[in-house]
Amino acid sequence: MGSDRSQYKLAGVMGWPVAHSRSPVIHNHWIAEHQLVGAYVLLPVQAQRLQQALRALPALGFAGCNLTIPHKVEAMQWVDHLHPMAKRIGAINTIVVEPDGSLTGKNTDGFGYMQSLLDVRPDWQAKAGPIVVLGAGGAARAVIASLIEYGATEIRLLNRTFSKAQELSQEFGIPVQAYPWESRDDALANANLLVNTTNQGMHGEPALDIALNALPSTALVSDIIYVPIETPLLAAAKVRGNTTINGLGMLLNQARPAFESWFGVRPEITPTLLAKVQATF
Ligand code: ATR
Repeated sequence: MGSDRSQYKLAGVMGWPVAHSRSPVIHNHWIAEHQLVGAYVLLPVQAQRLQQALRALPALGFAGCNLTIPHKVEAMQWVDHLHPMAKRIGAINTIVVEPDGSLTGKNTDGFGYMQSLLDVRPDWQAKAGPIVVLGAGGAARAVIASLIEYGATEIRLLNRTFSKAQELSQEFGIPVQAYPWESRDDALANANLLVNTTNQGMHGEPALDIALNALPSTALVSDIIYVPIETPLLAAAKVRGNTTINGLGMLLNQARPAFESWFGVRPEITPTLLAKVQATF
């Protein structure tokens, strides 16, 4: 399906609210760059209309769509096929319309996260040392599943609500150990990577309540938030000399495999694209 470059194809992002999404900027840039015929549009769909909207995709000529709040978990029950990684994460962010009109659900968020790390540190190894994950929601699930896929053997999961960290630890097994929020210093000792998946530090939210004193200065510090581009966590890490990774790389990299599965072309993140997306903030 992705190989016929002259066929007009639609893709889009389904969510509610959806107007703030940067995905049209990213995908329409790639459509133009690769001289494809098609468009990537906003699909404002409320929760109660999700099933109807998904079922309409093949008839409307959609190659597929992305999913955002509040559909990432709910949509799993309405697709015909699920990728194993999407099953492990428990959410989908991408739907592909197959040639027979059936729908396949995928999750590219974890890939996007890993790629954003490797873009900054190509030699980074998930198994090289303990990894600290802050938060135990949907975003944490994508990050944890991918870290394990890339070989992580020790993930220290810190969450405000300890029971949620324990649940994830049981589900993902031995590599994931739950730490109470009060044990932040213990968790940070000798860590190789710290990643924030909570909403703390996002525009309009207070900064994450964490001191970095116990973290080695060689550790990578990453935040999946991209508004603001430098969260208080990243600013504090930079001051200490840690290499920091903001959430923009994850946003851009999760879009790449989705675009490829719809349009048959593997797109790249160029400085022009980066500047275009940054100009929207
Ligand atoms: P997402 O899908 O983006 O991961 P989510 O599933 O709502 O969103 O998860 C939000 C995460 O941020 C949770 O881990 C949440 O902690 P709780 O499990 O205790 O709710 C975390 N979070 C939200 N507000 C927080 C706060 N004030 N301090 C620390 N963590 C917070």
